[in-house]
Amino acid sequence: MNNFTFHIPTVIHFGKGQIKALADELKTRCVKKLLIVTGRGSAKRSGVFDDVVRQVRKAGISFVELSGVMPNPRLTSVYEGSELCRKEHVDFVLAVGGGSVIDASKTIAAGARYNGDVWDLFTKGATCRSALPVGTVLTLAATGSEMNSYAVITREETQEKLPFGSPFVKPVFSILDPEYTYTVPKYHTAAGVADIMTHIFEEYFAPPGSAGVQDSIAEALLKVCIHYGPIVCDTPADYKARANILWAGSLALNGLLGSGKNGDWACHYIEHEVSALYDISHGAGLAIIVPNWMRYVLSKETEEKLAAYGTNVWGMKEKKKRKCAEGAIEKTRSFFTSLGLPATLSDARVTGERFKEMAKKANEFHGGIGTFKKLSENDIVAILTASL
Ligand code: NZQ
Ligand code: ZN
Repeated sequence: MNNFTFHIPTVIHFGKGQIKALADELKTRCVKKLLIVTGRGSAKRSGVFDDVVRQVRKAGISFVELSGVMPNPRLTSVYEGSELCRKEHVDFVLAVGGGSVIDASKTIAAGARYNGDVWDLFTKGATCRSALPVGTVLTLAATGSEMNSYAVITREETQEKLPFGSPFVKPVFSILDPEYTYTVPKYHTAAGVADIMTHIFEEYFAPPGSAGVQDSIAEALLKVCIHYGPIVCDTPADYKARANILWAGSLALNGLLGSGKNGDWACHYIEHEVSALYDISHGAGLAIIVPNWMRYVLSKETEEKLAAYGTNVWGMKEKKKRKCAEGAIEKTRSFFTSLGLPATLSDARVTGERFKEMAKKANEFHGGIGTFKKLSENDIVAILTASL
C-alpha cells in the first residue's frame, strides 16, 4: 500500500427527510446570500427545489438562482454563475441536482474567487487558491461529486471536456435523501449505476501489490451495485435499493478506494472524449467502453486481478484464471445490457472518424493513460474501434 493522506471534510446528512438539516447548516455557517444552482427543471418538477427554498426561508437567508445547467455542464453556465455571485455578493453556492449541477456549482464557486479565466484551472495548470463554500442537495446517484473535490466541465467551442480538482471545492455538506432519487428516469438511473461501478473498477484495477482493505471494500460495493442496480431500475421507489445505491455512489469516489493505490482511469479519460464530442450520457458511454477495455487489457499480467473480480464479486467457481477473467468480463457486459444501457458506440450514434484525434487528445492531456495497463494512442483507438 502506498503512503496516503485521507481527509473528507464533507458533512453527510443521509436519509429520508434530511433536508431539515439545511437551515441549520446554512445558519451555522453564517451564510448571508446564497446562489442556488439547478439543472433543466427536474428539481422543480419533483418538489425538491420547494423543500430547499422552505429551509432557506426558515434560515432567513436571501438567495439568487441559476437554473438550466445542462448534463455535461457547459463553461458558459459557469461564467454566468460566477458573475452572478460577484454581482450579488453571494457567499455560498448550493447545488440542487445531479453531478452536472454539482460540478457546475463547484466551478462557479472557484470562478467567483479567481482573478482571471476559470478555464485556466482546467488547462493551464493554474492553482485554485480559494473558492466560495459549496453545499449540495443530491438528486441522482452516480458521480460521487457530492463528496469529492473534482468537477468536469465542457467547453463547447473547442469540444473539450476536462476535469479539475481542488480541496477548496469539496462540498462542506451534502444532503442525500434516497427519496429525492425516486424520480430519476430508468435510463439515467442505469447510467448512474454504471458510473458508480466504473469508479470502483478504476481504483480496483491497479498495479499489483496494492491495497487489500481498499480492494475488499471495492468488491463489497460492486456486489451492492449488482444486487440493487436492477431493483432501482425496475422499482424506482424502492427506498432500500435507492439508499444502498446512493451511498455506494458517494463511497465509490470520495477518495477511500483510491487511497494508497495508483488507479487506472483509462475508461474515464476515453469516455470524456466521447461525451465531449457526442454529448452522450457519461454512464452510458462507460457501459459501452468498460467491457471492451477489460477485454483489451486482459493478458498474462492482468488475468489474476480480473479473475479475482470474477471469483469475489460474481461468485464464479472457474479455477482457470484466464477463463474466470473472460467469464467475469462477459458478466459485466451482460449486466450493463440488462439495465437497458447501450452495448456499442453505434447504438449511441457515435461514429469512428474522429477516434485518432480523440486518442491523441486524451493521451496528451493526461500525459499517458492507464496504470493497470499503459495504453498508447493506438491502443485507445483499438478500444474505441472494438466498442463501435
Ligand atoms: O437537468 P435536470 O432537469 O436536473 O435533469 C437531470 C439530467 O437530465 C436528470 N435528473 C437529475 N436528478 C433527477 C433527474 N431527473 C429526475 N429526477 C431527479 N431526481 O438526470 C439527467 C442527468 O443528470 P446529470 O447531473 O448530468 O447526471 P450525473 O449525476 O450522472 O452527472 C454526469 C456529469 O458528471 C461528470 C460526468 O462526466 C458528467 O458531466 N462526472 C463528474 C465526476 C466528479 N465530479 O467527480 C466524476 C464522474 O466520473 C463524471 O465524469
Ligand atoms: Zn464517472
